[in-house]
Amino acid sequence: MPSENRRPAYPAVRDLAPGEHEELVRRLFARVPRGYDFLNRLLSLRRDVAWRRAMVKAMGLAGTPRVLDAAAGTGDVGVEVCLACPGATVAAVDFVPEMLLPSRAKFRKAGIAERARPLLGDAMRLPFPPGTFDAATVAFGIRNMPDRAAAMREIGRTLKPGAGLFVLEMVPPENALYRFYLTRLLPLLARRFTPDPAAYRYLADSILMFPQPDAFLAEMVAAGFSGPRKRRLTFGITYLFWGHKIQS
Ligand SMILES: C[S@@+](CC[C@H](N)C(=O)[O-])C[C@H]1O[C@@H](n2cnc3c(N)ncnc32)[C@H](O)[C@@H]1O
Repeated sequence: MPSENRRPAYPAVRDLAPGEHEELVRRLFARVPRGYDFLNRLLSLRRDVAWRRAMVKAMGLAGTPRVLDAAAGTGDVGVEVCLACPGATVAAVDFVPEMLLPSRAKFRKAGIAERARPLLGDAMRLPFPPGTFDAATVAFGIRNMPDRAAAMREIGRTLKPGAGLFVLEMVPPENALYRFYLTRLLPLLARRFTPDPAAYRYLADSILMFPQPDAFLAEMVAAGFSGPRKRRLTFGITYLFWGHKIQS
């Protein structure tokens, strides 16, 4: 029988104070990197790749943009950005070193190591001066930030006026079938493939607790982004949201 230490149980998101939520996210992502990409592809039937690609296409990058990828994880967005725009540079920021570790080899393999840089850092306290970036992305990360508004304000601080923030996120299920997959099937599949299946209970829980798409757009506006838009992807499992930093 695996010890409690190997298979922690995660409390429900709604029961967590913000500090506890952050601590849980750090702990959880420190445990998942081995096999993270594989499980992402498997459990989303490779839709995660298509979703990131759709986001990068929507960014319409050209020239030599500086892009912030906040909550970069294993660096998939950085690869897509650099392949889509040969002049782009990417700062791939994540606060869990174990998640960032594979990104270095990934960037090297994609031939973009000169342009994409993994950086250990907290999206709530970014180590960049105001107005550094031409665009920012957060893919499947904002859901893990206890204070989404503060995170978006901080990202906005590092953007040039008019620059876009692009957010990919999984939203609460629109239909019973997907809810069943998320809350029942996914934990079973995860048990088969990961040493930390309870992490997938957190995943389901954090998706259920995320606001409805229009409510999230309102949060973007309150955080200082104008003209917010959304695009429904794959039957509404995931949404792409974007808006532009208000010109001051
Ligand atoms: C589900 S993963 C997504 C990774 C990647 N963006 C992708 O598309 O696969 C969420 C990531 O957000 C990171 N994260 C959560 N809160 C963060 C914060 N405040 N600052 C930096 N990274 C954070 C976690 O460490 C984790 O790597």
